[in-house]
Amino acid sequence: MVYEVKDIELSKRGRPLVKWAEDHMPVMLEVQKEFKKEEPLKGVQIGCCLHVTKETAVLVKTLICGGAKVALCGSNPLSTQDPVAAALAEEGVDVYAWRNQSTEEYYHCIEKVLSYKPAITMDDGADLVSTLHTEEYSVEGVLGGTEETTTGVIRLRSMADKGVLEYPVIAVNDANTKHLFDNQYGTGQSTIDGIMRATSLLLAGKDFVVVGYGWCGRGIANRARGMGAHVVVCETDPVRALEATMDGFSVEPMIKAAQHGDFFVTATGNTSVIRGEHIREMRDGAILANSGHFNVEISIDDLLSITRSRKNVRPNVEKFELKNGRSVYLIAEGRLVNLASAEGHPPEVMMMSFANQALSAEYLVGFGRDLAPRVYEVPEHIDRKVARTALKVMGIEIDELTEKQTEYLKSWEKGTT
Ligand code: ADE
Repeated sequence: MVYEVKDIELSKRGRPLVKWAEDHMPVMLEVQKEFKKEEPLKGVQIGCCLHVTKETAVLVKTLICGGAKVALCGSNPLSTQDPVAAALAEEGVDVYAWRNQSTEEYYHCIEKVLSYKPAITMDDGADLVSTLHTEEYSVEGVLGGTEETTTGVIRLRSMADKGVLEYPVIAVNDANTKHLFDNQYGTGQSTIDGIMRATSLLLAGKDFVVVGYGWCGRGIANRARGMGAHVVVCETDPVRALEATMDGFSVEPMIKAAQHGDFFVTATGNTSVIRGEHIREMRDGAILANSGHFNVEISIDDLLSITRSRKNVRPNVEKFELKNGRSVYLIAEGRLVNLASAEGHPPEVMMMSFANQALSAEYLVGFGRDLAPRVYEVPEHIDRKVARTALKVMGIEIDELTEKQTEYLKSWEKGTT
């Protein structure tokens, strides 16, 4: 067994967590059944850089059912669930992950995974792919990759546009059965969960500022509203700002929202959306959290430059006493709050995201060699298969188009009658 985890003895606590996830991810069990029969990944080395959670453990087990060999590292220094990492290591998976890593440790683990010379890379945030594209490495033998998250897809598209992407990558994030559910309902619930676990404070009646109104932002805004908060959305995109308005939220520029918000959550995928000029305006006791992939959305440098002193006041909560006499609280160092301060998205949405991952890996084994080095959509038949399987395991039946309806949709001759 080869692994680097916090403590292998934690596997005792990890095993029931993985079982709990498995019992709530029936779509993955369906994929496992198929994979055991057909072994579409037989002998294929897969390098995974994913949040090491109980749900990811189920994905890894599914890939192994398909015959793959898996090496796994975390995709964020603060998101690994140590008991889960230990449980996987004990089962013989080569895991390189522990919670609370330094940047050096984080990249050490990525390098470990790359040393297996994976034929498929499975990324969440594109750190594995981008490291593999540095001078020390070669992409020889790589069939393709998959990418889990919006931020990673943006990075990969930038690599493709600049002509530096050297192998095909499937944007799992962009599948309908991924972003419509994981990004919206998963991020919505798990972000509120992370803030609740960290602060134990009331949301009802509070001013809750959501920065960014993509699928994640709208999920967070809706869940915060459901908890009785008055939700304010900050956006730079005029169409999204209009959507937020018509969805019934207040829309304001950050500098105005800064003056009255009680909670601030960033979900933009961009850098420095909360800066010193905003933090200086905030009420005493304002709470700041980030739900985007990287810890760049709240400018920590700006925060530090206007801070007189800082101290931990609860697990995952740091108090910053500002030079202006007021204080703000930062959750989980500005790293993604749902994974650093809670358990990430619930298994029932991760089963769809990860079924797309597993089936996209199967697709790359079949067709990766024929694909140009670009970013690809998840093939539609996979997306629809995941939706059909999810409906099946939920016991939901739907209608089928009649022959007449199918013909009608293909025709143009009949209009007003
Ligand atoms: N991203 C968000 N939630 C997650 C989870 N539970 N497992 C893996 N990746 C995630």
